Amino acid sequence: MLKDSENKIREKLSFDPSSVTVFNILDSTNDYLKSRAGELRGDFHVVCARAQSSGRGRRGKSFYSPDGGCYFSVLIDPEADNSSVSSFTLCAAVCVARSISELTGIKCGIKWVNDVLIDTKKVCGILCESVIGTDSRTRIICGIGVNLREPAGGFPAEIADKACALEQFTEPPLPEDLITDVIERIHGYAPRYDIRDYIDDYRALSCVIGNDVQYVCNDETIPARVLGIGDDGSLLIRDRLGNDRSVITGSIIIT
Ligand code: BTN
Repeated sequence: MLKDSENKIREKLSFDPSSVTVFNILDSTNDYLKSRAGELRGDFHVVCARAQSSGRGRRGKSFYSPDGGCYFSVLIDPEADNSSVSSFTLCAAVCVARSISELTGIKCGIKWVNDVLIDTKKVCGILCESVIGTDSRTRIICGIGVNLREPAGGFPAEIADKACALEQFTEPPLPEDLITDVIERIHGYAPRYDIRDYIDDYRALSCVIGNDVQYVCNDETIPARVLGIGDDGSLLIRDRLGNDRSVITGSIIIT
């Protein structure tokens, strides 16, 4: 564990997190918290790693997490026991996009539901999961991975045309305060994390409204146009036959 880094994070936060733990490498910061969630009490347990050996994304995908990136997860204990993972994802996406923009001046967009993009490429992925403690309370693990640097040999072929790193868009130094700035913003929505407090920001940051996309869910791929984002964070789409629908699961590919 890296005590100096842990202390720096603590010092920069305006509130007292329950714990802050920093590693050089972990399998997955989400998994680290998940395996301890039963015994952890209190709000805002933060775990960070400079690399992950088994970083995870949504729908069972892996998340490429080489050394020098910014990977962290926060265990949050929301006031409402029925807080939804999907609305947390929206909240985190708003916080990351705003942090990057304010700390670097780079304009970011959000691709529904959990990708933060610069231009058309993904700079950050978010994986929120719920866990039930031994006290039967539902808590949220909010995992965030930001590509800070382009890997020496470039991104792996399978993501090379989709991924980007912050350093490609900004002069050094890279922002040191990204983790604390994002956590501070998330904390700003505590303890209710009411979607009404951030849905308008989410819509304003969305880079898919009005776009033609492929909507992908299970084995189905539907060409559609994005009409908007619903008050519950759902995606409102119109298919080629003119049928409108509101979807809460799945993902989209911008065409
Ligand atoms: C996605 O793009 O589908 C989500 C990626 C989420 C990656 C972050 S990195 C920190 C945390 N630990 C993980 O294993 N995943 C999340």
